[in-house]
Amino acid sequence: MKARLAVAAIVLTAITGAASAAEAPAAFAACKACHKVEAGANAIGPSLFGVAGAKAGTVAAGFKYSPAMAGWGKSWDDANLAAYLANPKDSIPGNKMVFAGVKDPAAVTAIIEYLKTLK
Ligand code: HEC
Repeated sequence: MKARLAVAAIVLTAITGAASAAEAPAAFAACKACHKVEAGANAIGPSLFGVAGAKAGTVAAGFKYSPAMAGWGKSWDDANLAAYLANPKDSIPGNKMVFAGVKDPAAVTAIIEYLKTLK
């Protein structure tokens, strides 16, 4: 079964030619309702291009961040991203990302690894 899945993955990669850009993990589908990953492409949420490692509330030029996010003053290292993505409301009180959070820690890790490729 595992071997068949691996073969299927290789075939899919070959078909889609996804060698250049990292494949978004399945859990990132929820983020796409509000976020784009191309530089400068703001939507309901700010573009996530270059967000990993950046200071919160600064990376998406032209996006109107909440005062809570703009004034938070911390950077998006792995720990801060993990806390925020698991529980946006409580980790930065008053921020305006209306999202319940990702409950599966493995999915959070997969999303963070993906965000790091957006640069
Ligand atoms: C319902 C819309 C919505 C969904 C769904 C959503 N976000 Fe957001 N996100 C926002 C908004 C709006 C902000 C800006 C928050 C603020 O300014 O207070 C934001 C901010 C962020 C930031 C901080 C950006 C910065 O420049 O500092 C990150 C990182 C982020 N979101 C990641 C995610 C990820 C990853 C997911 C999926 C697991 C997700 N978001 C799902 C709307 C959303």
